[in-house]
Amino acid sequence: MKDAEPQAIRLADYAPPNWLVNEVQLTFRLAPRATRVLSRIRFRPNPEAGGRAFFLHGEHLKLIRASVDGAEISPRLVDGGLEADVPDAPFTWEAEVEIDPEANTALEGLYLSNGMYCTQCEAEGFRRITFYPDRPDVMAPFTVRIEGPEPVLLSNGNPTASGAGWAEWTDPWPKPAYLFALVAGDLVALEDSFTTMSGREVTLKLWVRPGDEHKTEFAMEALKKSMRWDEEVYGREYDLDIFQIVAVSDFNMGAMENKGLNIFNTSAVLASPDTSTDANFERIEAIVAHEYFHNWTGNRITCRDWFQLSLKEGLTVFRDQSFTADMRPGGVSRIEDVMALRGRQFREDNGPLAHQVQPDSFVEINNFYTATIYEKGAEVIRMLKTLVGDAAYRDALDLYFARHDGEACTIDDWLKVFEDATGRDLAQFRLWYKQAGTPRLDVTEDWDGANYTLTFRQHMPATPGQNEKKPMVIPIATGLLGPNGDEVVPTTVLEMTEAEQSFTFEGLAARPVPSILRGFSAPVILNRETSPEERAFLLAHDTDPFNKWEAGRALAKDVLIAMITGEEPPLAAYLGALAAMLRDEGQSPAFRALALRLPGEDDIAQTLFDANVTPDPARIHDAAETLRQEVAEHLQDMLPRLAAECVVAEPFAPTGEQAGQRALALEVLKLTTRLDGGKAAAAMFESAGNMTLSLGALGCLLDAEKGEDALAAFAAKWQGDALVMDKWFMMQVVHAAPEKAAATAEALTAHPAFNMKNPNRFRAVFGALAMNAAGFHHASGKGYDLLADWIIRLDPLNPQIAARMSSAFETWKRYDADRQAQIRAALERIKASENLSRDTGEMVGRILA
Ligand code: PHE
Ligand code: ZN
Repeated sequence: MKDAEPQAIRLADYAPPNWLVNEVQLTFRLAPRATRVLSRIRFRPNPEAGGRAFFLHGEHLKLIRASVDGAEISPRLVDGGLEADVPDAPFTWEAEVEIDPEANTALEGLYLSNGMYCTQCEAEGFRRITFYPDRPDVMAPFTVRIEGPEPVLLSNGNPTASGAGWAEWTDPWPKPAYLFALVAGDLVALEDSFTTMSGREVTLKLWVRPGDEHKTEFAMEALKKSMRWDEEVYGREYDLDIFQIVAVSDFNMGAMENKGLNIFNTSAVLASPDTSTDANFERIEAIVAHEYFHNWTGNRITCRDWFQLSLKEGLTVFRDQSFTADMRPGGVSRIEDVMALRGRQFREDNGPLAHQVQPDSFVEINNFYTATIYEKGAEVIRMLKTLVGDAAYRDALDLYFARHDGEACTIDDWLKVFEDATGRDLAQFRLWYKQAGTPRLDVTEDWDGANYTLTFRQHMPATPGQNEKKPMVIPIATGLLGPNGDEVVPTTVLEMTEAEQSFTFEGLAARPVPSILRGFSAPVILNRETSPEERAFLLAHDTDPFNKWEAGRALAKDVLIAMITGEEPPLAAYLGALAAMLRDEGQSPAFRALALRLPGEDDIAQTLFDANVTPDPARIHDAAETLRQEVAEHLQDMLPRLAAECVVAEPFAPTGEQAGQRALALEVLKLTTRLDGGKAAAAMFESAGNMTLSLGALGCLLDAEKGEDALAAFAAKWQGDALVMDKWFMMQVVHAAPEKAAATAEALTAHPAFNMKNPNRFRAVFGALAMNAAGFHHASGKGYDLLADWIIRLDPLNPQIAARMSSAFETWKRYDADRQAQIRAALERIKASENLSRDTGEMVGRILA
């Protein structure tokens, strides 16, 4: 029999907890199949609560015994936890439960990964460890005693005692249960230290499995840079004697900010030049920073409830993006952030999974760790900073930390701080949190011989459950260029608040060329019809690196769209502009590499759909292939010189500068491969002294269908390194021709090294299949069927990852009737599978709705 439909949880139903916690003491007696967890929790009534009923969350727990103030009791076990009769006054709860870490394939709660114990509690995993009020507005200091034969026993806070076979940790900072962590196993540490701005010495340890020591140095440096940056830029100092990071191979997400004991997916922390690409290094630096920054934005100030998730995630992403921009200057990181935003968040916002940055309801919170909560949440904060200015932003943040340290807060608390610090009314700005969807911004212009007027119209398509939208506050950073390319009006922030609004620049000597939405000052879709010549002009002259890049991308998009819809593409203008851009040595290699890339096929599909054209993934792919070939032929004469220019003479360093050179070298190699059939790529594969060039060359060989030998050599060399083998799996699927993608993925699932229980490996195959747009959407429907099969298989083992993968189907309404029917059938099949998890059930239900 199927369970009743899971109930939605509503923000409007929030009620404060009946009971608060003064103190938590936990004892773990570790055993793979039967770990005992003893808890001693001191409760006090919450004066602000509406009642005294006592409920503790608990799932997959075997209750051995429980007592209140020392007297044994028999609690009533109910759905999702237990209830008990307790005194109407402070009391001590004690319980002993048994759990089975080895059986835990969901990777939530306490589980075993490669023989090592670790935990994941966000969002609601602590209730799989012991009975507890598992909600973020219940904060308490924890003392944890761990007993077990493992040589390393870790938990949050400072080490306070240890002996043979046990260790005790004390975390003095009150925290919600989702920040609890425990690790035990055979681990080795890279050790370092950091002196804080007030002169306190903090021990830093990065724990890995023996054999991975050589991959720890980069993340340790990133950690120290992050600690310094947070002091310098936000005035935030670290607050314990020790900060630890542990690398774990089985992990659902990138990493987790547990207080003083961050747990990382190995892919988000381990790095070496031999095994990691430049993109890996950049991502690791960003994630180390992100988790560290959570210590203040997330841990010291946490979320009242999960509807406030973006309070910590949007802010912390914004902080890590700012950090990356400081570590890797030149404007390229902003372009990369926007590419990611468009690729993931705009896609989400324009389909059935669109939701608010602060949702009103959810069924399974794990489904809301989304690009909207994270990346759009960060964009909203970036806009806020643009609107109030840098100094007022810093004042507001100082007030936020002063006012709310130690509290569990709401997004409204956050906005109030800005209102109080700046005197601004943010009622309209708040719509960014409450209205789902991506605003469209149409622009027209008027020139009367002396005055130049820009008129903007904003409108937002309906999203699920929200048909009517109100106008938003949109900061539109705009500059004007004169006919010779000089900047005649520097960047000015136009503050749009109406549905339609005009802004006039007076007294100009000649009709200017506008550079609108500089730095991507708002997460909107800007529609501005303009000539190829003007786009080329901006690509050549814009002083804003983002808009310079954007002009080239818009031109490439114009070409592709025209090729697909059968109009005359502005090909000559595009090729000429590209060549000029590449010759401009004032532009960094990193910028030139990004400007050489074509817009993604998924982006083209969405643009066609917006223009009422049903996208055909095969035609989009063919157009992109044709255009790449045209580019290669047009640039033919320049390629050897560019390739030579990009050779890095110095020893490998994972700097932004070297990464830029390698990125350009690989863009050039891709074009060269179209002309020489893979000769240069084969040579590069042989001689590459680092993973970036090696993997890039392998990709070119696979594109040229000459990858067999290289693949075999790669596997022979790297079979012992799981993270590199993930790349080996992923590359084959990403670079498979559309008609072969599903078959390639399916064949890889039969490889002895495929392991569906390992999220990284599962994603390496199926995340890659979803990324190969023409392959996933191949008319045969094989991509859809294969993914549905594997979601159904994975769901009972790891519902979080199964649910996440189902978002590959979120764009289905864009496509033709045949594809829609195939996808609907795949989704219905998932939906009908027995005992489908709440996670996947909610996702599939929302996609189908
Ligand atoms: N809170 C983590 C982060 O953003 C992400 C995460 C969520 C990890 C849920 C695990 C589970 O850094
Ligand atoms: Zn985070």
